[in-house]
Parts: sequence; structure tokens; C-alpha cells
Amino acid sequence: MLNGKRVLLIVAGGIAAFKALELIRRLRERGCSVRCVLTEAGARFVTPLSLQALSEDRVYSDMFSLTDESEMGHIQLSRDADLLVVAPATANVLARMAAGMADDLATTVLLATDKPVLAAPAMNVRMWTHAATVANVETLRRRGVHFIGPNDGAMACNEHGPGRMSEPEEIVAAIEALLDPGTVSEQARVLAGRRAVVTSGPTREAIDPVRYISNHSSGKQGHAIAAALARLGADVTLVSGPVAVADPPGVRVVHVESADQMLAACLAAGRIDVAVCAAAVADWKAATPANSKIKKKAGAAPPALALAANPDILAALSTPGPKRPALVIGFAAETENVVANALDKRKRKGCDWILANDVSPATGTFGGERNTVHLVSDAGVEDWPTMAKEEVAQRLAERVGRHLGVVRPAQAAE
Ligand SMILES: Cc1cc2nc3c(=O)[nH]c(=O)nc-3n(C[C@H](O)[C@H](O)[C@H](O)COP(=O)(O)O)c2cc1C
Repeated sequence: MLNGKRVLLIVAGGIAAFKALELIRRLRERGCSVRCVLTEAGARFVTPLSLQALSEDRVYSDMFSLTDESEMGHIQLSRDADLLVVAPATANVLARMAAGMADDLATTVLLATDKPVLAAPAMNVRMWTHAATVANVETLRRRGVHFIGPNDGAMACNEHGPGRMSEPEEIVAAIEALLDPGTVSEQARVLAGRRAVVTSGPTREAIDPVRYISNHSSGKQGHAIAAALARLGADVTLVSGPVAVADPPGVRVVHVESADQMLAACLAAGRIDVAVCAAAVADWKAATPANSKIKKKAGAAPPALALAANPDILAALSTPGPKRPALVIGFAAETENVVANALDKRKRKGCDWILANDVSPATGTFGGERNTVHLVSDAGVEDWPTMAKEEVAQRLAERVGRHLGVVRPAQAAE
């Protein structure tokens, strides 16, 4: 419930502004009070009268209104709210927020606030994928602004792709998750009762007690997926190799080092509905790791390092049988022939979906904030636009939710 909570809703000038009306209605149904700030462009799309009637409060647009400013109205508006929501968040308002501008009441309030801010972007797909918007969103995320959406789909401009504002119900769920994390609406918890295992990060294969074989995986993508599945209500076990990122909230985390330990932790999780193998598991380990540090001897040739194959966690979890999860998802980190290699990998491993991504150094994927993935399933190959790893995670979790909606939970099958 949002009883007694106060949202300051900033409505900017996009086609999706009409959805702000429905958003107000749904928030008020949940006991949340809503006060609106309308940009000049926003007023071209919805009338102050509609916002006022639905919010049962006056609508604020003018920064230089004497009555409001005698009480420092723009500061007071932020003080009076628990959360600021920008819906729709136009490309223009996101740019002004990222630049720290304060050239109208909306951006002044956004700059003057110390309250959490949630933005629901809505714009044409090319505006959303433009490098300027991408950089602005990245800047705002780094500063702690929360984002919901945009969704994929048909747009008013007769184009198709990401840019549609999230539906009012989805925005309400995001508001609940921020203001009252204990009571995310049941509708948003499409994975409630489902059990998931996510692997993340690199593995570390000991050569001796001080040296190891590993790779550059940061764990950011796997951790974001675990968090996104948990937000949708799944009971998530995250099996993580050594990473610098924090454990996500609401997730059981098992910390491991080697591929052997990672496989054992996955199997110990018991019956699961979905496995997401996002870890960059080392293919090889030292065949016979030394028990004590291998000493460097002056004049002697370097020791030969014999390698042995590591267990194949994705293939092991994909093995047909009564314990196989309903959905097994692998990652294919490639530096060339990304999609062709992923198609081949999906067949070899027997998993259901593969998310293929290009990790060649120029892409900055390893350790970076963004990812460009291709979803390979029996329905074919879907190219997803470059997006933040959190967005990849959210989109994947939603897909998992839709897929599992038609499959019985693992516990029921036991
Ligand atoms: C018919 C029409 C639809 C528009 N839809 C959008 C939109 O969906 N998203 C967006 O970012 N800008 C859209 N724009 C452009 C914005 O209205 C424009 O950038 C404006 O300056 C935004 O101001 P604001 O961010 O202060 O509200 C649209 C413009 C028109 C004329």
C-alpha cells in the first residue's frame, strides 16, 4: 500500500502524457496523494484541469508565481514529497536534468530535491537510442536517478522499438518498490513462487595457493539479473565468483571461487524453475594445483602448466531429466561471429535460450555498464539494442516471467 505517501508527478511534453492521468488515478486508489508539476510543453498534451481534477490538488507550472515563491514554492514542492516521478520523461527533460539545468519549475524542483527520483522515459526509438540520450541516462543513473522502462512496442510515430513509456501499472509497481519495498503489488510479482539460480562473475582456478587463472568478468550483468528476477518475486540463489560488486538485495548469495565449487553450489540449490548461467566460467583449470607456492629458481626454465577441462555448468544444468529446470539460459561471450557461435553453443549445450554478447575490448562490455545482446531461442535470433546492464536484466526477467507463466512451478512437479 502507498497509504499516506506523497508523490510529486512531473508531466513533460510527450504523447504519453495522457498516461499520466491514469497513473494519478491508480496512485490515488492506493492511498497515495499526488501533486503535479506540468511543463509548458506538457500542457500541450494534457490540460492542467484534467490533472487537477484527478489529483484533487492544484497544478504547478509557473516558477515565477509570486504566491508560491513567497514560500520558496519550488523548494517546498520537493520537501512535501516522498518521491519525485517524471512521467513522461522526455528526451528534453532528461537532457536538462543531466546538464543540471533549472530553466523551468520542473527542472528547478528536480535540481533542488534531495528526494528519490524515478523517471519513466517516453520518446521515439531514435531519440532513445541517440548517443546524447544514452549518455544523459547513464549520467542520471550514476547520480542515483531510478528508471522504469521504456518498453518495446509500436509507437505513435508509426515506428517500433524501445521508447514506449511503461504502463501506469508498471510505474505504480516501481513506485511501490521504492516507497514500500515490502509490498510490491502481486501483479508485478509474476515470478512469486518460482525458484531461480543465477551464476555470475568469473571463476578463479588455483595454480598454487597464491596464483590463479581467471578472466575479466565483473559480475555486473549476472548480479543485475539476479536482482531483476528477485524484484519480480522469484526466490533467487546467486552463485557468485569473486567480484567487486555488492551482493544484490533480496537475493541469497553463495560465494565461490572455482568452477567445481560453482557447479556444486548450483546443484545444491535443489529443484529450480530457471537457471541463468551468466558467469564467465574458466574453461580450464590447473591439472594438478600445487599445495605450496611454486618457487622461481634462478636459471631454471619456467614450469610447464598442464591444464584440465573444467565442468560445463551450463551443459550440466541443461541435461534432460526430471530435475532439469523448465528454462535454462546461457550467455555466450564472444569476440567474433557472435550470433553464429551462439547458435552453435545453444545446440551443443542443450539450453533453451542463449544471450550472446560481444566482449571484444572495443565494446567495453567486460566491466562496463552497458551490453549489446542477441537473444537466441528456438523462435530465432532477436537483436536487442545496446542498453544498460540493468535494462538487459529487467527485460530478460520480464521475458522469463512471461515464459514461466505457462509452465508449472518446480515445487508442484516434485
Ligand atoms: C506531437 C509531438 C509529440 C512529441 N512527443 C514526444 C515524446 O514522446 N517524447 C519526447 O521526448 N519528446 C516529444 N516531443 C517533443 C517535446 O515536446 C519537446 O522536446 C519539448 O521541448 C519537451 O519539453 P519538456 O521536456 O520541457 O516537456 C513531441 C513533440 C510533438 C510536437
